[in-house]
Amino acid sequence: MEEERITSAQEQNTDKTWDLTLRPQKLGDYVGQEQVKANLDIVLRAAQERKEALDHVLLFGPPGLGKTTLAHIIAKEMGVGIKVTSGPAISKAGDLAAIITNLQDGDILFIDEIHRLNKTIEEVLYPAMEDFALDIILGKGPSAQILRLDLPKFTIIGATTRYNLISSPLRDRFGVTFRLNFYNDQELSSIVRRSADILSISMDQQSSDEIASRSRATPRIANRILKRVRDYAQVKSNGDVSLDLTNQALELMAIDKHGLDDLDRRLLKAIVDNFSGGPVGLGTLAAAVQEEAGTIEEIFEPYLMQLGFLSRTSKGRVATEKTYDYLEVEKPKDSKLF
Ligand SMILES: Nc1ncnc2c1ncn2[C@@H]1O[C@H](COP(=O)(O)OP(=O)(O)O)[C@@H](O)[C@H]1O
Ligand SMILES: [Mg+2]
Repeated sequence: MEEERITSAQEQNTDKTWDLTLRPQKLGDYVGQEQVKANLDIVLRAAQERKEALDHVLLFGPPGLGKTTLAHIIAKEMGVGIKVTSGPAISKAGDLAAIITNLQDGDILFIDEIHRLNKTIEEVLYPAMEDFALDIILGKGPSAQILRLDLPKFTIIGATTRYNLISSPLRDRFGVTFRLNFYNDQELSSIVRRSADILSISMDQQSSDEIASRSRATPRIANRILKRVRDYAQVKSNGDVSLDLTNQALELMAIDKHGLDDLDRRLLKAIVDNFSGGPVGLGTLAAAVQEEAGTIEEIFEPYLMQLGFLSRTSKGRVATEKTYDYLEVEKPKDSKLF
């Protein structure tokens, strides 16, 4: 179900072709994340002045906020090559060795979903990150020998949506860590306008503001909604996007004023109706709404928490006063929740 959700921040197959045109290529075109950009600018310049490879960089934050985009921008700004892989794609130490030995000095290895690297690979990675060397074991038993392979001075950029799943020895080997935050409406609106320009969509400010406010503070979702609004405007009118058409299209997609859809509402309703507002454990909640616990934690919850519609406590998930107002359900009188 998550695969087709317009409001899902997770990458879908149809996003990929659009990404090629919509992805900003330069730091100057990357909207928002001002603190990250300011820090990154210093780190990049310092490395360039010293003519050294960039420190290993760890990017974390919810899906769709621009981690992959930023990794490519860093490569461009440094004028180096970038090779893309992901945690689950590297299953053998040999795979990793093959990738790294083919890099040039200064090149970037982008490892997406780095929290999903298996433990053995992770251990091979430590000396590679620290000393630019790989220890390869040749043979078995008492006659086994260790061969130390020198590597190019490369940079790893790791991306993850689950910072807490990264082991601390791995975390420690990143010189720089950046957390990407949700975007505000103004930033999202300018991302929408930028995309509309690239796609030659004629649209007014009110329309881009409206899309922005319903995009869960996430650029990937904003771009996806823009495309659907464009289709709608083309079929129902002359293709020009107006506020009226935008609202109609969003209504057709069942995305409400907060950017929430039926699945979000089902989740919130479950907490309120089935568990009296919580606290309810993640596993129990997942079973009640028939979604995977990981999906709830990674896709649904970050934005619901951002809105203040849900909080996580040590005892489980709880609804807030805002949840009751939003769902228009009467608040329990004796509740200890709020
Ligand atoms: N800061 C930004 N400015 C403009 N567009 C952005 C920005 N961040 C993300 N995007 C858009 O959102 C899409 C998804 O971003 P991506 O880097 O793939 O997210 P992540 O890797 O964090 O899931 C990109 O294709 C790009 O078009
Ligand atoms: Mg990505």
